Amino acid sequence: MPRITPPEIRARKVTGPKIAVITAYDYPTAKMADESGIDVVLVGDSLGMVCLGYPDTVSVTMEEMLHHTAAASRGTQRALVVADMPFLSYQVSPEEAITNAGRFLKESRADCVKLEGGRAIAPTVERLVKAGIPVMGHIGLTPQTATALGGFKVQGRGSEEGKALLDDARALEEAGAFSIVIECVPAELSASITSAIGIPTIGIGAGPGCDGQVLVIHDMVGLFDRFLPKFAKRYAEAGKLIREAIAAYAGEVRAGTFPAKEHQF
Ligand code: KIV
Repeated sequence: MPRITPPEIRARKVTGPKIAVITAYDYPTAKMADESGIDVVLVGDSLGMVCLGYPDTVSVTMEEMLHHTAAASRGTQRALVVADMPFLSYQVSPEEAITNAGRFLKESRADCVKLEGGRAIAPTVERLVKAGIPVMGHIGLTPQTATALGGFKVQGRGSEEGKALLDDARALEEAGAFSIVIECVPAELSASITSAIGIPTIGIGAGPGCDGQVLVIHDMVGLFDRFLPKFAKRYAEAGKLIREAIAAYAGEVRAGTFPAKEHQF
């Protein structure tokens, strides 16, 4: 089955259907996502919180992202694989951004990269795109710089902030991004940004008016219980199932009922 490409994702703005994106950080999860018909597997730097136990995404390193992106990429055949560039891997200079983004394509076999920020990073996005590296943008709540934004809160409230986000989206489109994640923004604003630009918007906590949606898989299937954002819907309670299975196993080991005859040689 041919792999979905950035131009195909871009065209879905016009042709539909809406774009279904999920995060994955390892081989089995990416494989399940791919086999379930997901369009885009995002190896998000949410890795740091949901897999590595960091308090936020700031500490995530290039080496950690490369390692997990490579594993997720090996699990996919059809889905487009997007690698999230970690904090300070693209802000220092466009040259460093190209070197680091190139590592995701060459060493981890990602198809493209995602960067947080709007007008401030548009020149870097342009350089990456000119170097042949497709870029997904990310505006609104940008977790790597959440402290500077005043915490994890809804962005774009009020006309000035709303206009600034629209300017960010336009700058990213002009720089050549093929799509933009919009995080934690009022539904009305993300719908109006979506209709004002020519590339698809992928919403997370940004209402139904976007061209696609993304969720963190651990939130979606109940594998992360430190907190559940308001926008994340629980589709399964996999964490509960796993805890019950482990407790049953431990009980059987202690009772001496595992292994049974059929598990022996
Ligand atoms: O890191 C991540 O998982 C993300 C999504 C929440 C969009 O950036």
